[in-house]
Amino acid sequence: MEGRKIPLMNVSRQYESRKDEINKAVLEVLESGNYISGQNVKEFEKEFAQYIGVKHAVGVGNGTDALVIALRALGIGPGDEVITCALTFYATAEAIANVGAKPVFVDCTDDTYVIDADAIEAKITDRTKAVIPVQLYGQCADMVKICEIARKHGLFVVEDVAQAAGSVYRGKKAGSWGDIACVSFFPTKNLGAAGDGGIILTDSEDLAKKCRAYRVHGSGLDGLYTYNALHPDDSREAEDFGNNQPKYFNYVVGYNSRLDELQAAILRAKLPCLDGWNEKRRKIADRYRTEITNPCVKHPKVAEGAEHIFYVYVVTLEERDRFRNYMEECGIATGVYFPIPLHLQRVFEELGYKKGDLPHAEYVAEHSAAIPMFPELTEEEITSVIRAVNQFSGK
Ligand SMILES: Cc1ncc(COP(=O)(O)O)c(C=O)c1O
Repeated sequence: MEGRKIPLMNVSRQYESRKDEINKAVLEVLESGNYISGQNVKEFEKEFAQYIGVKHAVGVGNGTDALVIALRALGIGPGDEVITCALTFYATAEAIANVGAKPVFVDCTDDTYVIDADAIEAKITDRTKAVIPVQLYGQCADMVKICEIARKHGLFVVEDVAQAAGSVYRGKKAGSWGDIACVSFFPTKNLGAAGDGGIILTDSEDLAKKCRAYRVHGSGLDGLYTYNALHPDDSREAEDFGNNQPKYFNYVVGYNSRLDELQAAILRAKLPCLDGWNEKRRKIADRYRTEITNPCVKHPKVAEGAEHIFYVYVVTLEERDRFRNYMEECGIATGVYFPIPLHLQRVFEELGYKKGDLPHAEYVAEHSAAIPMFPELTEEEITSVIRAVNQFSGK
């Protein structure tokens, strides 16, 4: 038994490790009086775009809005289908449904747990417009195959990078593979803000401009877009409506979803540490992989060519619930990512999926447990987790 509980994640320790830089950055914003779309947002967009290796970044309110706005910018809506993985956080499919399109679910692989690229083509219909591979748990899907399939069928690739900031696949960062990508800065993410935050990444100036318009009420405030580009069937332009103030001309129905200036300042203070933090996560994962030798525990597979950043370390085992209770008794927190695969969520019942349709995702939902993973875990805590998992009796 540990004297103190070992948490699954811990954001306070990370704050402690960057306290001076974060406090300074926050105070500077407070004293500047520039609270909305200020210099920190602009600079962070540049810095993060450069870090990922894309031309444009558009800061938004959270990762879910990033997905919604990205889909809107691609023109996806009612009557369209979007393929994604059944094993992901609900927000991925919620965004598809929120723009009026239909989510189409594909199984994950049975060892890496990312979307099974070989299962995508069978789900493509003449209504399919895009595929959203989720870079799940910190690992990229087979982006080479997915981009090839998308090219062949004329589909957009929207990367969901909420769990994988800094992850690399075959030498290219997550977020630089598709037409557009969406990142979440939810506090527990590998790069976490002190509240909600998100960003959209793309090489396309056209898509970036559209996203900038959508994030501020569809106005010309910082998108400075042309009316006709958002309404291709209407040849008129903003001036034809007497527009001389872009802020108060609304080109399209959009959102109020900006990356907050305070959050951008905090993210700027943290970004230089991201690679180092991810490396620490990998080292913890190496210890887990080599030192957890309990035969009833299956480790996650890292695919060839993938640089996993272990947002979470997910093991699978037959008696998951008994394992979680046992770990709780040992004073070690565990989690489940995710307990209900999306094709079996009540809200998607009308799509007609049934149990057994996507067996790998269903297996992970029922048999997986995440064990503590964050860069500030101490060696002693890691050793305690390893010892506890090894002492679990599978019988
Ligand atoms: C895979 C995935 N997609 C999207 C999101 C949504 O991000 P946010 O919580 O910032 O809206 C999350 C966040 O948990 C996620 O894990």
